[in-house]
Amino acid sequence: MSDTPRKILVTSALPYANGPIHIGHLVEYIQTDIWVRFQKMRGHQCIYVCADDAHGTPIMLRARTEGIEPEELIARVAREHKADFGDFNIGFDNYHSTHSDENRVCATRIYERNRDKGHIARRMITQAYDPVEHMFLPDRFIKGTCPKCGADDQYGDNCEACGASYSPAELKNPVSAVSGATPIDKESEHYFFKLADFEQMLKEWTRGGHLQDEVSNKLGEWFEAGLQEWDISRDAPYFGFEIPDHPGKFFYVWLDAPIGYQASFQNLCDRTEGLEFDAFWGKDSDAELYHFIGKDIIYFHALFWPAMLHGADFRTPTAVFSHGFLTVDGQKMSKSRGTFIKARTYLNHLNPEYLRYYFAAKLGSGVEDIDLNLDDFSARVNSDLVGKVVNIASRCAGFINKRFDGRLSENLAEPDLFDEFVRTGESIAGCYEKRQFSRAVREIMALADRANQYIDEKKPWVIAKEEGRERELHEVCSMGINLFRLLIGYLRPILPATAERSEAFLRIAPLSWASLATPLTGHEVAKFKPLMTRVEAKEIEAMVGDSKEDLAATATQAAPTGPLADDPIAETIDYNDFAKVDLRVVRIAKAEQVEGAEKLLRLTLDLGGETRNVFAGIKSAYAPEELEGKMTVMVANLAPRKMRFGTSEGMVLAAGPGGDELYILNPDQGALPGMKVK
Ligand code: 2FM
Ligand code: ZN
Repeated sequence: MSDTPRKILVTSALPYANGPIHIGHLVEYIQTDIWVRFQKMRGHQCIYVCADDAHGTPIMLRARTEGIEPEELIARVAREHKADFGDFNIGFDNYHSTHSDENRVCATRIYERNRDKGHIARRMITQAYDPVEHMFLPDRFIKGTCPKCGADDQYGDNCEACGASYSPAELKNPVSAVSGATPIDKESEHYFFKLADFEQMLKEWTRGGHLQDEVSNKLGEWFEAGLQEWDISRDAPYFGFEIPDHPGKFFYVWLDAPIGYQASFQNLCDRTEGLEFDAFWGKDSDAELYHFIGKDIIYFHALFWPAMLHGADFRTPTAVFSHGFLTVDGQKMSKSRGTFIKARTYLNHLNPEYLRYYFAAKLGSGVEDIDLNLDDFSARVNSDLVGKVVNIASRCAGFINKRFDGRLSENLAEPDLFDEFVRTGESIAGCYEKRQFSRAVREIMALADRANQYIDEKKPWVIAKEEGRERELHEVCSMGINLFRLLIGYLRPILPATAERSEAFLRIAPLSWASLATPLTGHEVAKFKPLMTRVEAKEIEAMVGDSKEDLAATATQAAPTGPLADDPIAETIDYNDFAKVDLRVVRIAKAEQVEGAEKLLRLTLDLGGETRNVFAGIKSAYAPEELEGKMTVMVANLAPRKMRFGTSEGMVLAAGPGGDELYILNPDQGALPGMKVK
């Protein structure tokens, strides 16, 4: 049934190592994982690798805000990402990091091979520079007034108010989001990848069946606009790999990010007997290579990446599969509505298989956005999975367990019906292969309807009460269990955990596609246990409620020290959220410098009977001696946070854009240490 075994390497985009996985990310990992699990079930060698995307300015600054080294930040986030993916049953064969020895080797090799062929240029450019922090500023770290509509507080590359795109130089009243200082122009030498050298090769590749049609059409427009040189270097300070022989210059994060696919695979090869890097990446490789990505990063994967690979004498991807974004209840995910749902928040309330099923039921092979409608989500999961699929097993298993010692009949009651289910399997496989998961789900559910109809017609609960119909009861229920086995086999790429529990109930080895055609007869099954419960409305409400709380926590933590300190608080929280924050009046008993810390002062706070050690990011605004004896306000019930310099046991409140413009809050005279702020 399955064709000749193929060698397939699959990747999903590498998530940034500075934030949690949310359900928007999960569309891609679930889509990829379903496809990979399907290929494995078909008997192919299919290897799925991914990694954290660990470099770049945002990660460097985030670590600095937390008072920790970037290595510590990315190690923590990697643990969180791996736990989230594991709990969603994303079956990576390897999960690595771009901040790894393998990636340094792979990135250096790709850079040097392209350089040696003359595909790298060097020239001076002028960029915005933060004179206080002594760093060049990426566009996202410059804020100011939109040159088109005049809206304040807009990023350096585009305006969220009017949608205009512009260069940071056009922004009015620009300030650095890192220090609050006015950026100056500064020159520096940069390295460029000469994309135009690959124009002919890319024109052929992008029209060669490696991309979805809508994507190659879009690329046509980019070719018309002309292929620009790509700036692949960044100046220190930067968290990344230094360019060989060019101290102080680093590879731009987007150069070594896709190379992380190679690095993760190399890391797996090093641990796996018989797995060869060149067999998958070499120019003459007969393996297939697929990248699943979001539509926002097509440019990197359909132009830069194939060009870099080609320039370095590696094979190019077999295909790049792009998908759309996730909306929730028809709108962009929103923190205030509680629809910006982190993977962990979801897992705290709901079975991951529900979401895997719902996304599968919505996903096609195109780049359209998909919508998670929370009412539809419960209705579909309850009616399809609980009401139709799992129900077939529970309707038949009781009789098999109680009346036939758990043993299935020797004969199939309706071989034609069984064969019809097997034949439909090939069409379902075709849908999976083409990533038409919603069609696969429709076909599977049509079979589930057919199986339920069979049981409704045979009415085992009636036969069971009539004498002399024992054999019929046995065969009908065994037939039901066999149909259930086929359905769960077809759903296995989508519902790996439910399939595993079903296999335990059926006492069978993990189902492969080829094994499905042989019915299960004269075989003893285990005692039936419910395989899936219904989605309850209160679970969804609780998840949405918790997602709103996540926002409250982020806002209080980010306010005093982060680069976002001068962001307006736009989202509303309700009183219950506010009431959770225990604000207390404190006296700053002691303020000291912290060796090695750029921004932090160590404060000893007197709460009237208790003291707390707090690291506050106010060093550029205050000398320690100015602070001692001052009264201020702290968040007293913030979970203690381990920092490089010790544990911080709360947070003091300060206002202002940051840098030397930060003002700690003073209560009016009469307030005493320990008093609650109401
Ligand atoms: O857009 C992103 O989230 C990037 N971290 C994706 C990188 S994909 C690959 F190129 F590494
Ligand atoms: Zn604007």
